[in-house]
Amino acid sequence: MRNFDENNITTAVIDRLAECTSPRARQISESLVRHLHDFVRDVEPTQEEWGEAIGFLTGVGKMCSDTRQEFILLSDALGVSMLVDAINHRLAKHATETTVLGPFYVENPPEYALGDLIDTRPGPALFCEGKVTDVDGKPLAGAIVDTWHSDAEGFYDVQAEAGLKSLTGRARLRTDAEGRFWFRSIVPKFYPIPHDGPVGKMLEAQGRHPYRPAHVHFMISAPGYEKLITHVFLDGDPYLDSDVVFGVKDSLVKPLVAQQPGTTPAGHAVDAGTSLLHYDFALAREAISS
Ligand code: BEZ
Ligand code: FE
Repeated sequence: MRNFDENNITTAVIDRLAECTSPRARQISESLVRHLHDFVRDVEPTQEEWGEAIGFLTGVGKMCSDTRQEFILLSDALGVSMLVDAINHRLAKHATETTVLGPFYVENPPEYALGDLIDTRPGPALFCEGKVTDVDGKPLAGAIVDTWHSDAEGFYDVQAEAGLKSLTGRARLRTDAEGRFWFRSIVPKFYPIPHDGPVGKMLEAQGRHPYRPAHVHFMISAPGYEKLITHVFLDGDPYLDSDVVFGVKDSLVKPLVAQQPGTTPAGHAVDAGTSLLHYDFALAREAISS
């Protein structure tokens, strides 16, 4: 077939998929072609604008390295990461809600004992405690709790000059027999996502800021349960309603409470004035694959 025009080219491309043997590859390809062609028909780009679009994607690719994933950042900033997360986590009632992983997770973070100070950087004292249960409230003993957060200036350890050599503000803990965890750290601050590349330029062109509200990341796993990837956001942060990656959910926002003389709700002794963050996590049972 020849003589393609704006009315028949979409069908022509889809017809070429007739011999695609994988039903899933065919479904994905067909939908991609339909939506991409509709996008172009909707926008009617000039040749120069299409060239700019190709240049933008080329720039995104060139920005990627072992330590920088600009395509994931693009997906984050366009809300696609949160959409994929939502589709894949239609969770059981009472399970803790999920949110994006982000680029600052480090595999096998340093192990700490419950109660340890996990951050050596300066900043206001934080005491974080909570428990890990199933959706019916049964404590999960020995659950692996990975946590990481920015410092009081809004930087992750891996963004510092010394980079991976000096991991801090991150830890791996294990819950006790009653499913509890607790650690000492510093209060994190809001921060911009890396915006010195094409995604930063895109945000600028869209009239958007690059900030994420202050949060503490958690990745929690226990045998037989869905791995939970989430954050706890600090209530009162100025960016809670405009998170650049659309990751905030009401159920994940908690106030920092100034510790009074005495003990924390979970019974730990902490200096008065320390900011206390308490969050209880509920893990959904792993889906049984057929
Ligand atoms: C983060 O929370 O660490 C993050 C998430 C998405 C993009 C950039 C950073
Ligand atoms: Fe973060």
